[in-house]
Amino acid sequence: ADELNFDVVIIGGGPGGYNAAIRAGQLGLKTAIVESRGILGGTCLNVGCMPSKALLHASELFEATTTEFASIGIEVPAPKLNLVQMMKSKQDSVTALTKGVEFLMKKNKVTYFIGKGSIAAAGKVTVTANDGSSQSLTTKNIVIATGSEPTPLPGVPVDQKTIVDSTGALSLPAVPKSLVVIGAGIIGLELGSVWRRLGAQVTVVEFLDRITPGMDTELATAFRRSLEKQGITFKLGTKVTGAVPGAKGVELTLEPSAGGAAEKLSADVVLVAIGRRPFTHGLGLDTVGVATDPRGFIPTNHFKTSAPGVWAIGDVILGPMLAHKAEEDAVACIELIAGKAGHVDYNLVPSVVYTAPEVAWVGQTEDQVKASGIAYKTGKFPFMANSRAKINHETDGFVKFIADAKTDKVLGVHMMGPQAGELIGEACVLMAFSGASEDLARVCHPHPTRSEAVRQAAMGVEGWTMQA
Ligand code: FAD
Ligand code: NAI
Repeated sequence: ADELNFDVVIIGGGPGGYNAAIRAGQLGLKTAIVESRGILGGTCLNVGCMPSKALLHASELFEATTTEFASIGIEVPAPKLNLVQMMKSKQDSVTALTKGVEFLMKKNKVTYFIGKGSIAAAGKVTVTANDGSSQSLTTKNIVIATGSEPTPLPGVPVDQKTIVDSTGALSLPAVPKSLVVIGAGIIGLELGSVWRRLGAQVTVVEFLDRITPGMDTELATAFRRSLEKQGITFKLGTKVTGAVPGAKGVELTLEPSAGGAAEKLSADVVLVAIGRRPFTHGLGLDTVGVATDPRGFIPTNHFKTSAPGVWAIGDVILGPMLAHKAEEDAVACIELIAGKAGHVDYNLVPSVVYTAPEVAWVGQTEDQVKASGIAYKTGKFPFMANSRAKINHETDGFVKFIADAKTDKVLGVHMMGPQAGELIGEACVLMAFSGASEDLARVCHPHPTRSEAVRQAAMGVEGWTMQA
């Protein structure tokens, strides 16, 4: 029937899928979105970005009542944690957001199918509902946006009770006395921060001899010190070789990454956060010959897979596994499908860690610039010397600009500090316009704001820093 015949069928309702659907609807393509979870929004809205940010916000306020309030003259009795209410508030926010996405599908005339999508043949997608009934859709284009799932760690099986992945860690029924996080990446440090603020003793075990690989080394070192000051313990250069769950938590066996004597570490709860892997299970990639690489990612060329008429976007393809990157992929892919000039600059996808202080960056790290052989200059400015940060007692951190020594073109901006995730937007715009440090250094910024620290760091490249 005509109602099951589309220009584009999108499989997966996360930030990749739903943004693709909206753009396709806007461009007048007859569009369907297929999502098996029964709720739109994908990992990000349901068990990722949004619930983690809700808990980060709530736990930061909770901690402030004991660490900050008295010193600024607010005396309150010792706070009492109502974890049930905190989780409910988180879930209410998530539900409001997922309903919003559902509304956007209607508004853009996108047909939403609840069920598991699989590719049955070229231009054919089967939707299988939970009750086993199925529908067959025909389409000119298929967009795979099935996202990713946590990477399992052999020997440390997730039961979502004492050994959890990020999904379990977003819904623990009680604050564990001790939490061991395996992996000093973004998930481990964000969720480790949440539970430390709510009262857990947090130890992070990391295979490498540094935290947050991918982050500028100078920034990562400052970030580790900041988290240590807050009470998080790091065991770097250490691997977990086994886990024995028992009635009273989990006993882990650790070894130095380079080999050596084993030691034991016990914890009430263990969070496995060693990365995510692409999810394509049951999608029927073989029926039309969509190739995957050895790690399971779908290789693409301008979002085209190896099978004609099949496109892929988001976490399931290479590149940073971030919601805003999935969104960029989505818009560009649909514009290409519609015969327009879709494009993503992967060098300008910003990263943010939503801890306190926040860490944010865009462009190349100093190590990458060094390795490229380009002569470069840096400009740095500490939040300690920023008046707004000082007034708000949020002085931990700094902003660093890296610019081409000859042309002054900005190559990377790295920062740790209050609202760094918001401040990085300014660097994204500057770099998208191929801006120089001097361009930003000459722009009037409002006083007193944290954004002045960004300008001062750009001025630092020119040797003009005024305030430090
Ligand atoms: P997903 O969001 O994973 O969506 C894929 C959807 O496809 C899922 O809903 C799945 O149910 C569905 N699906 C899969 N197979 C099928 C099928 N065969 N049929 C029908 N449906 C199917 N990123 C950020 O940018 N900022 C953050 O702050 C952030 N925080 C995060 C915190 C956590 C704890 C986690 C786990 C991730 C976080 N991320 C964050 C990463 C972000 O969630 C992902 O990059 C993003 O969700 C990827 O979008 P996607 O559309 O590619 O895939
Ligand atoms: P990650 O890739 O950020 O970090 C994983 C860490 O685990 C690395 O430091 C790695 O060296 C370490 N590791 C790997 N194997 C190990 C082992 N066997 N033992 C000990 N350590 C080991 O992955 P993470 O934190 O799981 O997050 C997955 C992805 O989700 C992120 O890469 C990011 O794309 C996304 N995300 C983004 C957020 C944001 O933008 N704020 C928040 C949370 C997740």
